[in-house]
Amino acid sequence: MQLTFEPGEIQTAIEELHHKYRCLQVGAIANYIPELAKMNPDWFSICVVTADGQCFSVGDSQQLFTIQSISKVFVYGLALEDRGRDRVLATVGVEPTGDAFNAIILDERSQRPYNPMVNAGAIATTSLIQGKGATERLNRMLAMFERYIGHESFIDMPTFMSERTTGHRNRAMAHLMLNFGMIDEKIDEALDLYFQQCSLMVNCLDLAVMAATLANCGINPLNKVQAVSSCYIRDILSVMYTCGMYNFAGEWAYKVGLPAKSGVSGGLIVVVPRRMGIAVFSPLLDERGNSVRGVKVCEELSQRFGLHLF
Ligand code: DON
Repeated sequence: MQLTFEPGEIQTAIEELHHKYRCLQVGAIANYIPELAKMNPDWFSICVVTADGQCFSVGDSQQLFTIQSISKVFVYGLALEDRGRDRVLATVGVEPTGDAFNAIILDERSQRPYNPMVNAGAIATTSLIQGKGATERLNRMLAMFERYIGHESFIDMPTFMSERTTGHRNRAMAHLMLNFGMIDEKIDEALDLYFQQCSLMVNCLDLAVMAATLANCGINPLNKVQAVSSCYIRDILSVMYTCGMYNFAGEWAYKVGLPAKSGVSGGLIVVVPRRMGIAVFSPLLDERGNSVRGVKVCEELSQRFGLHLF
């Protein structure tokens, strides 16, 4: 284990890890959303962006894919800015569930969804985004993503339509939350916005810049734009740390020891506070919905560079 390192060592390390794992054919592509099933299992990229703006990448770093659940982290930040900590906490808890990301379950005592990283909590979080109508909400959300990414962002329409026509579980969760008064009646609008946020197109380098922005107190290290108020970084990273890897969150915290978030298209972001953002993209997933190669790469990077927070 190494505690300090030169920037050049990062490039060498990610190239070695890419070489080591590129032939690993373990896991499966998510196929519950038909558009996701079209992804190529060989796609694989590792990118690192440091808090002072140095970029390192290997593999398919320009390949576009939909961000999926990784969007939940950033929308949570926007909801905090829009509504404040107390209002958001009254609607969505911060407890890890130990259940699958799509479990239809609410906290029995408070009737809130457990946390903003599982689907129920993410839909409730999205319902808090301010705007006069659906278009204004979507535009505010896209503008938020653009601050993190540093360039124009867009939604993949086929994925959005695919999510919308097959998202019956998500619809059921929204109705359950409406029943308990946790979200308001505009559930179709909230669901559409949730499906749209999941269908945002990114590449692996974009994700590393987004993670580096969180590492850099909310300031995009490449263009110096404040993407989210620094006072909410603590909230965002705490929830990522305890809930970002679903029912693998405990083992992840134990082994890797860093805030992270995965998505079903195979993306994975990791934040090393004040130092760097790491992103891995590889669509082959394990049974919990985390990228198999992504988890392996991050375990090794954390170990090799002594990145574990404790
Ligand atoms: O709600 C869904 O089914 C997806 N659009 C988002 C899923 C996702 O990435 C969950 N993560 N592992």
